[in-house]
Amino acid sequence: MQEIFTGSFTQQEPIPDEGIVAALEVMRSGRLHRYNVAEGEFGETALLEQEFAGAMGARFCVAVASGGYAMACSLRALGVKAGDKVLTNAFTLAPVPGAIASLGAVPLFVGVTEALTIDLEDLAAKADQAEVLMLSHMRGHLADMDALMLLCNKHGVKVIEDCAHTMGATWNGRLSGTDGVIGCYSTQTYKHLNSGEGGLLITDDEVLAAKAIVLSGSYMLYERHLAAPAPEVFEKIKYHTPNVSGRMDNLRAAILRPQLRKLGKQCAAWNERYSCVESGLRGTPGLQIVERSEQENYVGSSIQFLLLDWESCKINSVIDRCLARGVELKWFGGAEPSGFTSRYDSWRYAPSDKMPSSDRVLSSILDMRLPLTFSVEDCALIARIIKAEVSAVYQSG
Ligand SMILES: Cc1ncc(COP(=O)(O)O)c(C=O)c1O
Repeated sequence: MQEIFTGSFTQQEPIPDEGIVAALEVMRSGRLHRYNVAEGEFGETALLEQEFAGAMGARFCVAVASGGYAMACSLRALGVKAGDKVLTNAFTLAPVPGAIASLGAVPLFVGVTEALTIDLEDLAAKADQAEVLMLSHMRGHLADMDALMLLCNKHGVKVIEDCAHTMGATWNGRLSGTDGVIGCYSTQTYKHLNSGEGGLLITDDEVLAAKAIVLSGSYMLYERHLAAPAPEVFEKIKYHTPNVSGRMDNLRAAILRPQLRKLGKQCAAWNERYSCVESGLRGTPGLQIVERSEQENYVGSSIQFLLLDWESCKINSVIDRCLARGVELKWFGGAEPSGFTSRYDSWRYAPSDKMPSSDRVLSSILDMRLPLTFSVEDCALIARIIKAEVSAVYQSG
C-alpha cells in the first residue's frame, strides 16, 4: 500500500493564548490606533518595537503594515528616486521588485547560484550601476555575508536586507538583518511571526530611523515611540519627509509580542523538521540538495531541492505524482507564474538581459513549506514520498 500524507501545507499554528488575551484587551479598550494611548500608556506597537529592537540587537525599530511596505519605506528613507536603478535578486518573490517599482525605481537583477544565494560575481560586475542593493535572503538562504558586505562597501553600495525568510537566522553569529544599513521583516501569516499582515524594520542609523518613522505615518507623534532616536534628530528631517501612511496597529502588535518571545524555540522546531526532510532526501538519484554553509544558522521554515537539467515534463510529473500522495511542491522555476512569481523574467515591467546560468538553476527549483503544524514523523513521511516519486520518474528514463 502506498503511503499518503493528509496534512495541510498552509495550516499554521494558532496564535498563543497570551496573544489572544492581549488582543481582546486591545479590542475592549477601543484603542487600536498605535498613537491612541491612555495617560502613561505606551501601547502594544511601541512595546513591540522596543522588544524587537532588543531581540535583534538593533538601536531602532519601526513597525509597519507589511514586509513590502518596510522595503519601500527603507528605499525612500535612503533617498532612492524614480528612475534610479536598485540591485536585487533574480530569485526572490514578487513584493521585492514590487517595492522597488513602487517608487518608480528600476530593479536591476543579479543572478542566483546553486546554493540559491545571490551570485557575488554577477553582483561585482553590476555594482557600479546602482547605489543600493535590496538583498533578498530568499527562502532563508544566506549568501556569504562577509564577502557580500566587503564587496558592497568597496563599491559604496548600501544594503537593505529583506529578511522575510530569515528572522532569527545568523551568519557567522550575526543576526540576519544587522549587516545591512536596514533590515526588513514580514509578519504575514506564512512567516516566522504571524499577524496576518505586518512588517518591521530595524536600523542603527538615527537619521534613517527618524525618516522611516515619519514616512510610516507618525504625524508629529514620534515621541510616543520607544525604539526611536532623540527628538533633535526628527527636527532635522520632519519638514522634508513625507507621510506615506503604513503604520502597524495595536491589535497586530498584541498578537506578535508573545510570539516574539517564542521565536528561538520556533526556529529550533523548524530546523528539526527541515533536517528530517533533508536527510530523508539525501541520496535520491537526480535530486540535488541545497547545501548550507557552516557559517549559516538558518531557519528551515521551508525546504528547496534542485532537479537540475530535468525536462519540464518530468518535473511536472514529479509534482503531479507527489500531489496525488498529498505532498504539495511548488515549482519556483515554472515558465508561467501560477499563484506566485519568483523569477526575474516574470517581472516584465523591469526587463533584464538573460542570465543563462541563473535560468538553469531557476528552472530546477522545487519548494515546499514546512509549517509547524507538521510533526517530525510527518516530515519523514513527506521525504519518503518525494524520494520515491523523484526516483520513479528519474528511473523512467
Ligand atoms: C522574500 C519575500 N520578501 C518580502 C515579502 C513581503 O512581505 P509582505 O507579504 O509582508 O509584504 C515576502 C512575502 O511573501 C517574501 O516572500
